Amino acid sequence: MKSKLFVLFALCFGLFYKTQAQTTISMPANDQAAAPVISKYIYSHFAEHLGRGIYDGFYVGDTSKIPNTNGVRNDIIAALRKMKIPALRWPGGCFADTYHWKDGIGPKDKRPTMVNRWWGGVTEDNSFGTHEFLNMCEELGADPYLSANIGSGSVQDVADWVQYVSTNTKNPMSDLRKANGRDKPWKVKFWGVGNEAWGCGGNMSPEYYVNEFKKYSTFMTDWSNSDGIFRVASGANVADYHWTETLMKNIPKSLIEGIALHHYSFVEWDTKGSATQYSEDQYFKTMKRALFMDTLVTNHSAILDKYDPRKKIALVVDEWGGWYDVEPGTNPGFLYQQNTMRDAMIAGVTLNIFNNHADRVRMANLAQCINVLQSVILTNKEKMLLTPTYHVMEMYNVHQDATLIPLTIKSDAYVFGADKLPAISASASRDKDGVVHVTLVNIDPDNVHKISLNLGNKKFTAVKGRVLASAKVQDYNTFDNPEKIKPVPFNDAVLKDNLINITMPKTSVVVLTLN
Ligand code: AHR
Repeated sequence: MKSKLFVLFALCFGLFYKTQAQTTISMPANDQAAAPVISKYIYSHFAEHLGRGIYDGFYVGDTSKIPNTNGVRNDIIAALRKMKIPALRWPGGCFADTYHWKDGIGPKDKRPTMVNRWWGGVTEDNSFGTHEFLNMCEELGADPYLSANIGSGSVQDVADWVQYVSTNTKNPMSDLRKANGRDKPWKVKFWGVGNEAWGCGGNMSPEYYVNEFKKYSTFMTDWSNSDGIFRVASGANVADYHWTETLMKNIPKSLIEGIALHHYSFVEWDTKGSATQYSEDQYFKTMKRALFMDTLVTNHSAILDKYDPRKKIALVVDEWGGWYDVEPGTNPGFLYQQNTMRDAMIAGVTLNIFNNHADRVRMANLAQCINVLQSVILTNKEKMLLTPTYHVMEMYNVHQDATLIPLTIKSDAYVFGADKLPAISASASRDKDGVVHVTLVNIDPDNVHKISLNLGNKKFTAVKGRVLASAKVQDYNTFDNPEKIKPVPFNDAVLKDNLINITMPKTSVVVLTLN
């Protein structure tokens, strides 16, 4: 009887509290004088004219019953401000190289329509244009990042756009802006010079794109870039290192401030699978692709280092996130998907990767902000919900503009079949008030993991934490139960001398504050 009871106890204990060997994480013994600042722009977002991202997402129009400011939903403005959205990329994506900005200014009833050929073939009425976007950015407290059309536009159009939004000196474009009701320029710093030029942006070779880039980039400003604009070259598709090499070798440094990289996480491109009903095999494959971001950033950065050892040019990961099948019954061209704890895992590990590469990655834009791909917010008529990804972004905002504390991580494994991944991902920073934050992710859906965090020579008297977790990795927030998943206080981090012992729940994200 006794032995039966023991087996039962061992089974239950194993089921509910199965732990692995310990992960060790160490802060450096001494502060690193050369440690980079984690640019707040790593926490930026992306909003394309795609599906319900802009219309019926951000923008409901100023006659809507949904409370709004100049047509933009107030609940969205409040949530994104709370999350501390630092910058927003617009109007695409693939849409950007079909977009003619002059169609989106002036009286709305006079604006021409167009067909959004990439995304659902719907009519775009241009009611949300340059003024609406830039005014919305002001409401959000976010810097705008405009993606210029070099695929089907002209050099003159792009040069005019820069003048229209940023200059005060009298010229036809500043006059036009004033005539359209905006006296002061907005001053737009970030500019994408095309998007995915290797694909929807014109199917160009890197050699051809280099010449296009140089031409556009030259006429976007003057000899010395006195406008202070930040020109981002359309970057590589995932691991196309030849693309990065060709651009870095041939574009003069006086013409470029950033180079992009796009990488999405999915099971397989052709069989992405459901956003919510996925197997552990599909989960594992998605996480493997998400963690591949580290290899991509390392390898693209090595090419940048070769041509730009002083790290003047930023790596801008201006599209990343999870990409799955659309929700059943929705328009396949609208890319509307739910958002589970798998997405929280992708967000947590990816942001840790970017933080740890802060010397080169100085902007990143999650795709996409609202109702499209890995969104932080989903809307349904007047209802709105914050996704698990939102909560990760909000928990991690403590790293914005803080100084990186490089960590040495020896992670225990998340084993699936014959394959394995590091179970634990982490990054740390010290903010301007001297407060240290550590963000941790346990991607293992089967096991709790124990972590021993060595604080080096740093002395702390208190540790506080918040955790995002749920019973199953497939869990998500719904419009009927929008707060099923949200951060709660975390009490499983125990400080003793210069060590913190942490017990990470399965598939969880934790942020620790060390005073
Ligand atoms: O984010 C959706 C699409 O993915 C973007 O329009 C394009 O740039 C990328 O291929």
